[in-house]
Formats: sequence, structure tokens, C-alpha cells
Amino acid sequence: MSTLTHDQKSTRSTPTGQPIECDLIVTLDGPAGTGKSTVARLLAAKLGLDFLDTGAMYRAAAAITIDKEIDLADTETILATVIEADLHFDWTQDPPTILAWLSPYNQRIRDLDVTKIVSQIAAIGRLREHMVRKQRLIGQQHPRLVTEGRDQGSVVFPDAEVKFYLDADPAVRAARRAEQIRLTGNEPPPEDELLHDILLRDSRDSTRKDGPLICPDDAEKVDTSPLTIDEVVGFLESRVRARIAHRNA
Ligand code: DC
Repeated sequence: MSTLTHDQKSTRSTPTGQPIECDLIVTLDGPAGTGKSTVARLLAAKLGLDFLDTGAMYRAAAAITIDKEIDLADTETILATVIEADLHFDWTQDPPTILAWLSPYNQRIRDLDVTKIVSQIAAIGRLREHMVRKQRLIGQQHPRLVTEGRDQGSVVFPDAEVKFYLDADPAVRAARRAEQIRLTGNEPPPEDELLHDILLRDSRDSTRKDGPLICPDDAEKVDTSPLTIDEVVGFLESRVRARIAHRNA
């Protein structure tokens, strides 16, 4: 696992370079609370690439299940309704907003009730197949992409040129989650409760049959526990640029 040395941290502020012009898929996988979404979005902006948040797709499926009052055990109806909703992103927005039935769903998907059930929804095999197909299609339409999730480097884009796996100590992840909730103006649940939820979600995400959370062999593992978001982004950016320079040498 990579942890940044002081030297690496001090060189992280290399001036932002040119946008990357060539096709390039960068995958970021890892558990909840590693800062993946924020890091992926900022990294994409620095590199001039598009940004895909695949968690938003599973979250939208969970929100639809709740809002349409579908029983969690009724996976056929969940799948049919999600297909009918025609989930897709509005790429004119930054970050791209997710739409269901052509309406924005990006606010709803962050609600606590959605977060509570989303890992159960993400374990539905046929729903995952549907999402994987959609994500590969997005990859064809946006071949210059930073994509984040749990299975992006392992299942969806196994041939991606650059793969990262972000990890962090569970207690650090719980503290980050509490801070995120505070920033929305809400009082977070006690941290031991958040820690329990995170560990439960980790366990569900990594033990499910389809698309389990794993670190692909060819991914670089980065421990983000002691790092700020800017430090992680700077480190990943330097790694991607080095890879491209090596490819073009
Ligand atoms: O990263 P997130 O918290 O927005 O992800 C929401 C849920 O969706 C989480 O339980 C993991 C799951 N997920 C997944 O199974 N596969 C992905 N590619 C992305 C997210």
C-alpha cells in the first residue's frame, strides 16, 4: 500500500498540467469514507477528464425502491422499475447529475434512508449486470474518464490503463462521514454508530457474490488515513501524469 512520504507530500503542488488529450480510463475503487467521490471528481477536473460516480447509480436505484414502495425482496420489480426510470447523467452539469424519469435525483440519493439500504440493492446480481452494461456504455461515450465505485477496475473496466484502490482506517472513515453530515447542517449520529454502519457496509460490499469490493492485482493501493483530500488528489495526479509520460516516451 502506498502511503505518502514527506517528500512526496512536498512535491504534490506541482503546477496543474495540461488537460490529458488522449483516451484514458482511470478507475478508483475502495470502501465508503475514503474520499473516493471527492477525489475522483477533483482528479478528473485536474486532468481534464470526465467524472463518473457509479455509487450514484446504485443510490438512485435504492431511492427508487423506497419512493415506489417496492419490497426489498422483490428484486424483479426493483430491476424493472430501475430500467423504466432510464437512469442517466446530465453531463452538462459539474458534477454530472443523475436523472431518473428525466428528473434530477442527485439530492435524494444522499438521504440517510437511501444510504441505509443501498448495499442491499447493490447486491442484486441482475441489477448489477444492468449497471455494468450502462457503465461500459458510458465508458464508450466518454473514453476520457475517471470512474469511481467498488468494481470499476475489477469488473467494469478490467483493461483500464490506471487503477487505484483507496483505503483508510475505519475509525477515520467514520469521523469523515460525521464531518460530511455536519457540513450539511445536520447533527451526525454517534461515531460508534457510524463506524458500525461502515463496517456493515464494507462486509456486505466485499462478501457479495456479484462484483464484490476487491483490490485488483494491477491497482495501486493508497492509504488515505493520514492525508487531506488535496494531498490524495495531488499524489494520484502525479501518478497518472507519470504513466502517460512513460506511455508517450
Ligand atoms: O460510494 P457510495 O457510498 O455512493 O456507494 C453506494 C453503495 O453502492 C455502496 O453500498 C457500494 C455500492 N456500490 C457498488 O456496489 N458498486 C459500485 N460500482 C458503486 C457503489
